[in-house]
Amino acid sequence: MTQLQPARIQRLDADLMRDHLREALEIYGAAMGYPASVVDARYGHAASHTTRMGFQAVGAFDTEEVLIGFGYGYTTRPGQWWYDQVADALGRNRSRQWLRDTFELCEFHVRPDQQGMGIGRWLLGTLLDSVSHSRVVLSTPDNDTRAFRLYRSEGFVDLLRGHYFPGDARPFAVLGRALAPE
Ligand SMILES: CC(C)(COP(=O)(O)OP(=O)(O)OC[C@H]1O[C@@H](n2cnc3c(N)ncnc32)[C@H](O)[C@@H]1OP(=O)(O)O)[C@@H](O)C(=O)NCCC(=O)NCCS
Repeated sequence: MTQLQPARIQRLDADLMRDHLREALEIYGAAMGYPASVVDARYGHAASHTTRMGFQAVGAFDTEEVLIGFGYGYTTRPGQWWYDQVADALGRNRSRQWLRDTFELCEFHVRPDQQGMGIGRWLLGTLLDSVSHSRVVLSTPDNDTRAFRLYRSEGFVDLLRGHYFPGDARPFAVLGRALAPE
């Protein structure tokens, strides 16, 4: 692995996350390879996420205080689009097991020119340390990506593989992990 560049990781409350939302979504677009139209359309959703129960976020800043990575999530709950899709696919018993008192890692991205230097693992660890839920769940494209390898090496297990969300042609994996009690 390349040596970690100097960077600072900081927890972001909802106000700070909103202050940095434009830069964060630029990173999201670059990391996911999405066009500007997709990034622009995401702004309203992302802003509303900051008001959800259990919201927690972290940001990584370079030595010039420029945001280079971020992650956020919140309590997953019935009525949220992602929860309803995943609960339906998991079925009643596994939903009870996995989606109660659970933090959904919603967005997690590092600027492409800063990836592979340990920032993502550092961000993920800091974010999950600040979460008091019993479990964490997420969805990620079902491919051999850096994200997938990172989640595996951090102990995430398969909840669903090859899952299709409405409006997206790519298969996704839904992964989850228990979080240590306080
Ligand atoms: C996923 C992501 C946030 C991880 O951030 P990162 O800073 O690149 O991650 P790290 O450098 O901490 O690497 C974490 C792990 O990824 C894997 N990895 C990193 N670089 C790699 C490379 N060049 N080749 C293979 N695996 C690699 C390794 O398992 C690594 O762990 P290690 O510490 O054992 O080497 C970032 O790569 C990203 O933004 N990817 C695109 C967007 C995305 O997929 N987001 C997640 C959506 S669910």
